[in-house]
Amino acid sequence: MRSIPNVPSDRLPELLRRMPKAELHVHIEGTLEPELIFALARRNSVRLPYEDVEELRRAYDFTNLQSFLDIYYAGASVLFTERDFEDMARAYLERAAADNVVHAEIFFDPQTHTARGVSMETVINGLHRACCNARDDQGVDASLILCFLRHLSEEQAFETLEQALPLRDKFIGVGLDSSEVGHPPEKFARVFARCRELGLHLVAHAGEEGPPEYVWTALDLLKVERIDHGVQSAKDPALLRRLAKDRIPLTVCPLSNLKLRVFPDLATHNIGQLLHAGLVATINSDDPAYFGGYMNDNFLQTFAATGLTAPQAFQLAVNSFEASFVSSTTKRHYREMLEGTFASFV
Ligand code: ADE
Ligand code: ZN
Repeated sequence: MRSIPNVPSDRLPELLRRMPKAELHVHIEGTLEPELIFALARRNSVRLPYEDVEELRRAYDFTNLQSFLDIYYAGASVLFTERDFEDMARAYLERAAADNVVHAEIFFDPQTHTARGVSMETVINGLHRACCNARDDQGVDASLILCFLRHLSEEQAFETLEQALPLRDKFIGVGLDSSEVGHPPEKFARVFARCRELGLHLVAHAGEEGPPEYVWTALDLLKVERIDHGVQSAKDPALLRRLAKDRIPLTVCPLSNLKLRVFPDLATHNIGQLLHAGLVATINSDDPAYFGGYMNDNFLQTFAATGLTAPQAFQLAVNSFEASFVSSTTKRHYREMLEGTFASFV
């Protein structure tokens, strides 16, 4: 596509909604809406420390990452059966399809569940079935990325990998999430080296609240292919140059950053600066049920607050496909779909 049509600002929201896009940073446990938490609690006879959906929603007032994680892990404690995991993932995929997400790479946190006695097979088989059905039912192509919890030990990460290996064909890669500060990437260097030998894709959360140093070590010691969040990289010009030169994508999550107070408001978010520096930056929802918005909410609110325009919308969607772990043929197909949407948008 030679040039991106000039789109008047009042029509930009429609274009943002309509354009096909990939979501590369979403935690499936972070898509559990309060209504589904209560429905699953009822189904599994779990007593929640909240009277109703409204009281639970009122607790979603976070001051930083840890204050969110405490509630997020408590919410996930209603999941027990394959059907529970499938229902959760189906609900997300239906919602994503409504936002014209055509491809999703979905994180899951098995240790949150295996620690409660739920088997690895239950977790992965339930999620995987929803991904397979989404292809036929919603036309969304979805795959799974297993995340290690970084506040737990290297030994526990190795045990988790062992438990997951019989289901190796049902996930495409591994990631690293949970409490960042005090748990630097190097803690998991040997686990990631083993995953690399196994041919798994590698990603890691770094530079969400943690320093640019964690992004350097995620790149150099874990050898990740993408950085999740990475917004603190802007504090280090040499790191920005490295990310741009090696085309290492950042999966940025603006509403998450707002709700966890990484930025005081969306107008001061650095997504525009990251794009301007030539990075393969993308927009994603992270934990949409907790942060007040799915993909299109993230796009619409960020564009409204920062003044980004149609060419940057196109770039962000192109970046989402380039940063994905699909074949180059599929990337080309997605790009053609995107160009078609822009060309016919009048
Ligand atoms: N797990 C779920 N959401 C997360 C986030 N934003 N950062 C780290 N770990 C997470
Ligand atoms: Zn995340």
